Parts: sequence; C-alpha cells; structure tokens
Amino acid sequence: MAKVAVLGYGTVGSGVYEVIKTNQDIVNKNAGEEVEVKYVLDLRDFPGDPVEKVLVHDFDIILNDPEISVVVEVMGGVEPAYTFVKSALMAGKSVCTSNKALVAAKGPELIAIAKEKNINFLFEASVGGGIPIIRPMNSCLTADKILQISGILNGTTNYMLTKMEDEGWEFDEALKTAQELGYAERNPEADVDGWDACRKIAILTSLYTGLNVDYEKIYTEGISKISATDIKYAKKMGLKIKLIAYSKRIGDGIVSAVSPLMLNKAHPLYNVSDVFNAIYVEGNVLGPVMFYGSGAGKLPTASAVVSDVVEAVKTKKNIEVVWEDKDLELKDKGEIVRRFFVRVSGEAAAEEKMIKDIFGKTEVVKPEGINNEFGFVTDQMSESDFAQRYKKLEGAIRFIRLEQ
Ligand code: HSE
Repeated sequence: MAKVAVLGYGTVGSGVYEVIKTNQDIVNKNAGEEVEVKYVLDLRDFPGDPVEKVLVHDFDIILNDPEISVVVEVMGGVEPAYTFVKSALMAGKSVCTSNKALVAAKGPELIAIAKEKNINFLFEASVGGGIPIIRPMNSCLTADKILQISGILNGTTNYMLTKMEDEGWEFDEALKTAQELGYAERNPEADVDGWDACRKIAILTSLYTGLNVDYEKIYTEGISKISATDIKYAKKMGLKIKLIAYSKRIGDGIVSAVSPLMLNKAHPLYNVSDVFNAIYVEGNVLGPVMFYGSGAGKLPTASAVVSDVVEAVKTKKNIEVVWEDKDLELKDKGEIVRRFFVRVSGEAAAEEKMIKDIFGKTEVVKPEGINNEFGFVTDQMSESDFAQRYKKLEGAIRFIRLEQ
C-alpha cells in the first residue's frame, strides 16, 4: 500500500482528497497498489469534514513517518512550500505539486534532488490545470525541435474576458465570480496581471529547451487595463481579445512574452472560452498539435495532481526530466512582426494626416456608440518599430497587439 500526505486543504487539496476517494478503485488499479491518504496538513481545523480523521498541523509528523512515500504539495506560493518539498525529497519521498510559483522558481533544484534520490518531483497540474501537457512535453514531444508554444494558460482571465465579451459583465464582477468558482489565485493580481501565465510559459519553455527560463525576464502584461470599450472595438473588427502566453524561436533565439492579443477567427485559440485553456505547440517535424481542457478549478486540477501520484507510485524510480540549472538567455521581443490596434482621442477625419505620417498605411475602426475617440490598425511592423512610432502619437489612449 502507498501512503500519501497532502499539504494544504484548500480548493485543490480538498479536490485531491475527493478524487482519490471517488475514484479509489481506478487509482489503485492504475497505480498497481492501494493508495491511501494518511495525512492532510493544514493550519486550520475542519469540524465535521471527513478529513478531520487524517488532519495534522505539524509537517514533521509527515516528514518523520517512513510509511509516507508520496507528498502532495498544493499549498501554493514559494514558502513554506519550498522548505517542505525540499525536505520531503531529501527524505526520499516523491513530491507531486500543482504549485507553478514553486516550479517556476525552484524547478531545476528540486528536479536534481529527485534524480539524486531516485524518486520523482512531478508537476503536471502546474500548467493548464487538468490538461495533460507536462508529461506530453517530457515524453511525447521529445523527437521534435519545438518551434513555438502559444497558449491560453490562465483560466481566471479567460473566464473573465469571455464573460465581459459575451455577457457584457464589468471587470470586477467577472473577477469576483471567477474567485467564487475557485479559479483565481489567493492573490488574484497574479491572474489579472499575467504573472500566473508567465510562470506557466516559463515552465513549458524550460522543458522544451532543457534550460532554465527566469520568468521575471519574460515581458508580462495582464488584462487589468482591458475595458468594455476595447472589447467593442475588437467585436467591430470580428476579433477576440485573449491573454496569450507564448515562446517562439526567432532566428537562433527564443522570444517569450505574455500579453493580451486580438485574435481572428482562423486562430486556433479564438474559440477557447470560459475557464478552458489550450496550448498550441508546433514542432519542426510533427507540425501543429493542440492540448485543450479545463485550465483551473478544484476537480480538473486535482485530477492532474492525482495522475502524478499514480505515476509516482507505479514508477518507483526517477523519471528523467531535462531542465538544467543554467539560464536561457531570451531574445528581446522587439523583432516580432505583427499588426497593432491603437485607440486615439479625437475624430478620425481630423487626425488622419498625423496618423498616416507616423504609421503609413492604417485602417480606421469606429464602432457605434464610442465618441471622442477612434481606433486604427497598423500594417505589419516590428515591435521596436511600432514602439518608436507610438511615442510620437498625440492623444494615444492605448494599444493592443494583433495576432495573425
Ligand atoms: N488561477 C489559475 C488560473 C489556477 O486561473 O488558471 C490554475 O493554475
């Protein structure tokens, strides 16, 4: 019998407990032996909850129990998760985590300890919630040179943008509901400011390059400035605004960024709505492949965590993960060529000459009901070229990038 300890009884932790109970037979069969949750660690008490009988408040009970072979870390945040996970690995216990902050910050070190101890540090649920993506990256997409990964990697913001667009909800209302549904981080700024998606693309890029991507070096812009007016412009152009995290090979380097992008109908991520996430991967011999599913939420995320528990129990030896503790130098995003949508104060007719002088060929956009401003779309140009021109624009309100 494999005995498991779960660190954290929040949304995902209670989901892990529930998934193991609900699917006990399937989990046991796939793991090759019975899997039992012996402890759940949380600072809080849960009177009346069945978890009470396995609840502990002291991590040392878990660490010092030789029966525990797998520790599930679903607390979130770097500390104290890092200290607990590192000591569990050092004590020869495999760790399964959904914690992208921990994986993005300490991945190579924890992977190296697991390798040395011939156990596993697994993190399927850290990217894309319930979508299988880490294991495919590590074991199925290994014959290819990955040319690009573009993804909707944050369920909260995708849910919010969908509700703002389809139902006309305000930003705050959409965020509050996402929180109530258990999608958002404890500090929802990590979602709306793009840091959650940033950590996830850093993890994926580290996996396909085998080098460490410092997430703090990835250009990151969230959705906190996206307004109902921006969405009206997008609708008028037949586009949707999505928070996209990407990394692409450009020449001999890799560019990675997170930002809202306006997508057209033909884009593979255009129809990914609500809490769903999708990850589009392009390999040099495979071509395009897409992974799609629930990107956040209690049970989908818990399903991915429990799949790691099954893997750890049945494997019983280290699964090689290539992620060196050596930083990958990312290229500046200035070389990326795309079109840009710009909002400007004033009337299009009066400002047309200035816009043409600065940007050359442009297309004006003027949705009904928007006054004292207008929008336009530029021709293709590089990010750095656009930035220089945008500085010269009088009355600029904001710009959003277009993805072809
Ligand atoms: N807050 C995250 C999201 C949870 O909304 O995607 C899943 O990682």
